[in-house]
Amino acid sequence: MSTAIVPLEDDVGDVLEKAMKWSGLTVEQVAASANIAQSRILDAIDYRSDLTPVELCRLSAVLHLNDVGLCALGNQSYPIPACPGLPFVVHPLRMSHGVGVANAYVVSAPGSSHGILFDTGPNLVALLQDWPVTIKHIDAVFLTHIEGEHTGGLCDVVDYFGITRAYVPEGCQAPCGDAFTEGETRQWDPFSVQAYSTPGHASAHNCYRVISMRTSAKPVELLIAGDLIFAGSVGGSYFSGRVHQEQLARIVGLCAKNTVIAAGHGPLTTLAHERRFNPFLV
Ligand SMILES: [Fe+2]
Repeated sequence: MSTAIVPLEDDVGDVLEKAMKWSGLTVEQVAASANIAQSRILDAIDYRSDLTPVELCRLSAVLHLNDVGLCALGNQSYPIPACPGLPFVVHPLRMSHGVGVANAYVVSAPGSSHGILFDTGPNLVALLQDWPVTIKHIDAVFLTHIEGEHTGGLCDVVDYFGITRAYVPEGCQAPCGDAFTEGETRQWDPFSVQAYSTPGHASAHNCYRVISMRTSAKPVELLIAGDLIFAGSVGGSYFSGRVHQEQLARIVGLCAKNTVIAAGHGPLTTLAHERRFNPFLV
């Protein structure tokens, strides 16, 4: 796994904007409740934040956010944890798309040339650019949701790796894909992959819980989170903020604390770490 520092997807202004959408409050209402000039909040949303820790605490209270995490974002000191203990190898593939960067992941057994792929990036060329040299075969492809930055190259990728169909969330209008629904499990030794339907960012969105079947003790698990949750933030709730919140609470409740989270954007993190710091997990 690369040890390069990967930047967070969202800054404090992004988080405030998403939190205001979840709360249903306008900038005017938040500014009045937090006793902060509206222009200072708008500056933060426009990537020019100089909100003080006291102001960030007041905003956390008004928007029901985790103040420790929001202040850390405001100070540009949000911690990124080590993610130890996985009994398999995770290869993050970070691909530029427009002004952003989207992640796909290859998961493989140590020393194996076979892997399984989660999301396909904006296109096949981008996906292959930093492809792990040890991985020669992909046995299955899973999509978290249909969006150009995550699944633009789906059919090309399926053809390239000689896979019949990809596994996609139920309700996706995806060529080359078959629905893989809540609670279903597929196994490719040594992996077990279980689907969770997690709408909110999109109407059809899956997270995947990846478990090693070879480890006898309770192994550390991997959550392929798509745009449900990021280190320090959450994805945009383009389908429904209320449903997104419900699904986030459900997934956080069912995963073990030491679960490693591999999100559609930003660095790897752990559930325990996000429960401590993520502004949206109070
Ligand atoms: Fe995304």
